[in-house]
Amino acid sequence: MRSYVVLLGPPGAGKGTQASRLSQRLGVPHVSSGDLFREHIKSQTDLGKLAEGYMSCGQLVPDEVTIAMIRERLSRADSAQGAVLDGFPRTPAQADTLGRLAGELDGAVRAVVYLRVPDAKLVERLTGRWTCRAQGHIYHSRNHPPKAAGRCDLDGSELIQRDDDKVETVTRRLGVYREQTEKLIEHYRNAGLLLEIDGTQPELAVAGSVMAALKGRLD
Ligand code: AP5
Repeated sequence: MRSYVVLLGPPGAGKGTQASRLSQRLGVPHVSSGDLFREHIKSQTDLGKLAEGYMSCGQLVPDEVTIAMIRERLSRADSAQGAVLDGFPRTPAQADTLGRLAGELDGAVRAVVYLRVPDAKLVERLTGRWTCRAQGHIYHSRNHPPKAAGRCDLDGSELIQRDDDKVETVTRRLGVYREQTEKLIEHYRNAGLLLEIDGTQPELAVAGSVMAALKGRLD
């Protein structure tokens, strides 16, 4: 049976950082809706051209497009045991679809890890973030600097800043999170799936808290 673990939290909470670690620990793919859109933008597909307009101003890409992309991704052979979902779902419609889709694929959402971080820290994290061009490995100028300036420790590729990490766009993304995504915390709490984690701890401590909270949930 497929197991899905969702990482939920505001922009900059550390979803990508923790999802990457968790997917290695669990041996299932890290499925990030934001990364999938960025790949489409890089390849200049029709979906990428559409998504770019929304992402550059910090708005959500429409549900039907996002849902179709995730449905296709979760149906691939490498997701036969499940996935760690990062950035999806982000709206009630996406959450409902995920529940149905998991059932269709003979699986279930096992846990929703909510990373709690106050706004002031989020802005500092996003404006200091650097991401590797080749595979999206994540760094921070102060909290997690690379060993050699401007180069990824893991694959040596160039580190770049995301277009939507400018202060004005970050502020818009936080507003969109409050309006459209924050309500999922209550939704998943009521469903008995929410695991609330203090995301202000150092990266390794957050990872430890996530593993401890997941204990017994994935058997
Ligand atoms: P997406 O790429 O999903 O961005 P996001 O949700 O805004 O989240 P981020 O990737 O910015 O942050 P994160 O929580 O992953 O933090 P990270 O680990 O990188 O989405 C981008 C856009 O795509 C959206 O705005 C929307 O337009 C579109 N989109 C995506 N999904 C969609 C959907 N489902 N529906 C519709 N539209 C969608 O960490 C951030 C920084 O903090 C890094 O520098 C890191 O090194 C540092 N850091 C991490 N953890 C710690 C720690 N514990 N202590 C100190 N620093 C830390």
